[in-house]
Amino acid sequence: MTGGSIGIFDSGVGGLGILSEVRALLSSADLMYVADQAYAPYGERGLAAVRERAFAVSEYLIDAGASTVVVACNSASAAALHELRVRFPAMSFVGMEPAVKPAVGATQRGTIGVLATEATFQGELFASVVDRHARGVSIVARACPGLAAAIEEGGDVDGLVRRFTTDVVGRGADTIVLGCTHYSFVADQIRSAAGDGVSVIDPAPAVARQVARVRSDRGGTDSGTTRYLTTGDPERFASQIERLTGTRRPAISVEIGA
Ligand code: DGL
Repeated sequence: MTGGSIGIFDSGVGGLGILSEVRALLSSADLMYVADQAYAPYGERGLAAVRERAFAVSEYLIDAGASTVVVACNSASAAALHELRVRFPAMSFVGMEPAVKPAVGATQRGTIGVLATEATFQGELFASVVDRHARGVSIVARACPGLAAAIEEGGDVDGLVRRFTTDVVGRGADTIVLGCTHYSFVADQIRSAAGDGVSVIDPAPAVARQVARVRSDRGGTDSGTTRYLTTGDPERFASQIERLTGTRRPAISVEIGA
């Protein structure tokens, strides 16, 4: 008997940070990662288009044997997490929400910067997180157009990081929430652009802990495999994995229609 695999998806490489945190906690789980690169970036598409992709990719993962789906993308979580749970009630979904709650505990000056995509700020999820956790605290919501794509392409991200980070710090933030999974890969650059006295919160470890909690009652004889799939070019994806994680992995091409 198997407990089913864990399917993880993002528009591209961003969710690889979540994947590695999940692997660190669940050494024997079978993991399946989909980078929906043919439709990236999600964050600059409308919510309806992102929702459609989230449905299609989740359905693919479920058909391929996933019993838990991790929406390792803030934009897709903002667009579709609630609807995914309604549409696939038998499945467990773990999604991303901007880590405003721990940031409220960390801020000294009462101002929190959130760096995320436009789609994440448009979704109701962000408004509800702020409403639930950020009473009495100022939120500087900063959309970062082009940053996820620059991380994806390996372009010069320094200028973008500096621009967006100095903007939120200049507006008083002493705590910065990484509200897009791609940004984990430039957390150090964000820290150095922010300067001393500013904390940067990456939710990836907390999300992985949530995945481990959801999986804790599942039996199974999983063998610790990881499969890397992309709707884009598998060679390019394999090179991106190597650039970002230091290890080359084979990637497989997959077609996931709407
Ligand atoms: N990694 C995704 C997120 O967390 C979005 C990147 C994109 O715009 O595709 O929002």
